[in-house]
Amino acid sequence: MTEKEVFDWISQVQHPGRDDKDIVTLGMVEEVVVSEGKVTVTLAFGKRPDPLKNYLVGAVRAAIYRQAPGGTEVEVKTVVKEAPKPKNPALDLNLDQVNEVGHIIGVASGKGGVGKSTVAVNLAVALARLGYRVGLADADVYGPSVPIMTATEGFAPEAEGEEGHELFIPIEKYGVKWMSIGYFAPAGQALIWRGPMACSALKQMILQVKWGPLDYLLIDMPPGTGDIHISLVGDIPMEGAVIVTTPQDVALADVEKGVNMFRNPSVNRPIFGLVENMAWFTPEAHPEEKYYLFGKDGGATMAEHFGIPLLGQIPLVQSIREAGDQGEPVALGTRPDSLAFLELAQKLVAAVNKE
Ligand SMILES: Nc1ncnc2c1ncn2[C@@H]1O[C@H](COP(=O)(O)OP(=O)(O)OP(=O)(O)O)[C@@H](O)[C@H]1O
Ligand SMILES: [Mg+2]
Repeated sequence: MTEKEVFDWISQVQHPGRDDKDIVTLGMVEEVVVSEGKVTVTLAFGKRPDPLKNYLVGAVRAAIYRQAPGGTEVEVKTVVKEAPKPKNPALDLNLDQVNEVGHIIGVASGKGGVGKSTVAVNLAVALARLGYRVGLADADVYGPSVPIMTATEGFAPEAEGEEGHELFIPIEKYGVKWMSIGYFAPAGQALIWRGPMACSALKQMILQVKWGPLDYLLIDMPPGTGDIHISLVGDIPMEGAVIVTTPQDVALADVEKGVNMFRNPSVNRPIFGLVENMAWFTPEAHPEEKYYLFGKDGGATMAEHFGIPLLGQIPLVQSIREAGDQGEPVALGTRPDSLAFLELAQKLVAAVNKE
């Protein structure tokens, strides 16, 4: 085993937040030392936090373990260093935007209609209520719902900078910075995006936005779990994900698809936990009653099955839907279901900081 070999192995590790360039090309490998039975790699990161730091450290370790002789000890160290300015100005611009974000977290589901957007929007509001600086990118380029759910339809984000390299200023409301492809479409016009166009629109929603310093950027992921979707997911520079499900037994297969999307070797990001939406039904007039329409403990069973924590349970209540339709997320209030979102936000923060 030589240092050159180790360089070759780790040059397969790409940085999804930097146009998929490999970490060797990006100049992030500070040092490789091979001694008897041990490899030590030092990765250099810029002064601002890289939301993919943990992911890259894990990916480097995995690349070496995969190819080194069995029993080799692997250590990956990190140092902070002002990275040299990338030469490509477009890349530079994009990077600056996500580099100022502490944690980029995807909100995903195995199938549509389980309340992914409802959870994402309310989670964003709840995190903001807890005092965090929060943004939400509506990456559902096929059916954006953030403008409706926040009553910001018809709002148009301003652009800053020269054409072709402009940055969009997110819409601020309820203490959260929102961005959605819906803001760029004439009202009522259906958006049809296919393949590469959907992919670049999606990246723009995240990278071409002046998020400013943020603690959390949530991404309402587009629905689907096919191959195209997996490659999209791999392209989004996110640290990890939260998966939303409903409690039915039949949802297990969908959750599995969602989980595999992130555990897929080409994506390989941690799943911070599962959110069980519509966990039980509570009638508006009888807030103390709980009816388990889709069975009890479905979420807990699924979480255990996949070895991920159950971060929260959200009831099925009429007010959650009405609030979504009216654009005033329930997480702004003090009802029991509002508090469920605040609790979910706290659990998410704890799970992210534990990783
Ligand atoms: N806990 C809940 N209680 C009541 N209604 C809910 C709840 N969660 C979601 N809904 C309603 O269900 C509908 C679907 O929710 P939402 O749009 O959030 O799902 P989605 O998973 O994002 O769907 P899509 O796959 O289309 O993006 C909405 O009308 C929403 O208001
Ligand atoms: Mg949605």
